[in-house]
Amino acid sequence: MWKEAAVVSMAAGVYGRGERSGRLRLWLAALSAPFELAGKTRLPKTLITGAAGFIGAHLSRELLARGHEIVGIDNLNDYYDPGLKHARLEWIGSHPGFVFERIDVADPALICGLVQYGCFDTVVHLAAQAGVRYSLTNPLVTGQSNLIGHLNILEAVRRADPSPFLVYASSSSVYGNNTPAPFREDAPVDSPVSLYAATKRAAELMSESYTNLFCLKQIGLRFFTVYGPWGRPDMAYWKFASKILRGDPIDLFNNGALERDFTWIGDIVDGIVKVVEGGPDHLPHSRSHRIYNIGNNNPVRLTDFVSILEARLGKQASKRLVPMQPGDVYRTAADIGAIRSDYGFEPSTSLRAGLGLFCDWFSTWTTGVAAPVEVGRPLKKDSAA
Ligand SMILES: NC(=O)c1ccc[n+]([C@@H]2O[C@H](COP(=O)([O-])OP(=O)(O)OC[C@H]3O[C@@H](n4cnc5c(N)ncnc54)[C@H](O)[C@@H]3O)[C@@H](O)[C@H]2O)c1
Repeated sequence: MWKEAAVVSMAAGVYGRGERSGRLRLWLAALSAPFELAGKTRLPKTLITGAAGFIGAHLSRELLARGHEIVGIDNLNDYYDPGLKHARLEWIGSHPGFVFERIDVADPALICGLVQYGCFDTVVHLAAQAGVRYSLTNPLVTGQSNLIGHLNILEAVRRADPSPFLVYASSSSVYGNNTPAPFREDAPVDSPVSLYAATKRAAELMSESYTNLFCLKQIGLRFFTVYGPWGRPDMAYWKFASKILRGDPIDLFNNGALERDFTWIGDIVDGIVKVVEGGPDHLPHSRSHRIYNIGNNNPVRLTDFVSILEARLGKQASKRLVPMQPGDVYRTAADIGAIRSDYGFEPSTSLRAGLGLFCDWFSTWTTGVAAPVEVGRPLKKDSAA
């Protein structure tokens, strides 16, 4: 079982809405106590929202290994198998520097209380309702998490004294289908092709207004198709692997003529860590809010991606060529010059090597045994697949 703070169980039963912030105060005090009592220098304290998610779980492990105290929150919703989210929390494991609490970022009182009493140095806001296609059929759920949730985080951060540094997740989907590749952060992004993309762009704009109004220090990271072990069952690489192993046909949208800038999870985590630990003082000039692409800078055709999967899984896929889906984009391609120069981000993992590790993990996951591989690190470009 992952660790829930002892005070949470001590305070069990104190779940009235008005009393929850008191419970959080106790809980957060308990989190800091062992470190302060031991007379150690204060450790960096980080709040991660969406901690049971794919990127959040990997980031939690890496920051814990680097000596951060982490409070992880997540609403553990059932957009995809919540069992996988629980398993990720098990994978993070019992660690004296980690507490997890089930909290919805759309709950303003809880989020404000948590950030106010938490004395965080950094908030990494990853919780969101992902899924381009899901946003078309469930627009209100998407809006609740991605718009109200983001606004709650901004309000909580600006009310905290001092305000923590905010690092939040955006998406390559904001570029839509009209941006020339490779995508640069200064390209106009006012024509989203899905509601999901619109919420991510709206979150960036809300952040910009909060920096203009309240001088919040923030960085938005536009992620480009992240893949890897402990990944997401709603994403193509997972669905393809699963169908290839079962012998079911896979659908190649736009007849397979799609390109994605696939990014290995270890490279993404490395980039987020560089931003979190580099901090806002790394921001050039007087800009207190910046948006960076964080991708692999090397788009791959979907058909080539499938060939690598087939080779690694040792099985041919039965392919169905189907038309483009509403909300999808034809190509994503990251220009990562800005984050490279400001934070030294340099992805180093080839798709062949990364997909190889994903397949190893996936085979063990589907047979019920989680892989013992250390999967959160960047790999060398030339490492064997
Ligand atoms: N993985 C990618 O390829 C990718 C690409 C672009 C952007 N992103 C963004 O990166 C972030 C992390 O993505 P991920 O791949 O880890 O997705 P994920 O779905 O695995 O993780 C998100 C987590 O947030 C939680 N969550 C959702 N709504 C919540 C709410 N209202 N309150 C609390 N928790 C909530 C979910 O339960 C989930 O565990 C998201 O903001 C996503 O939009 C991811």
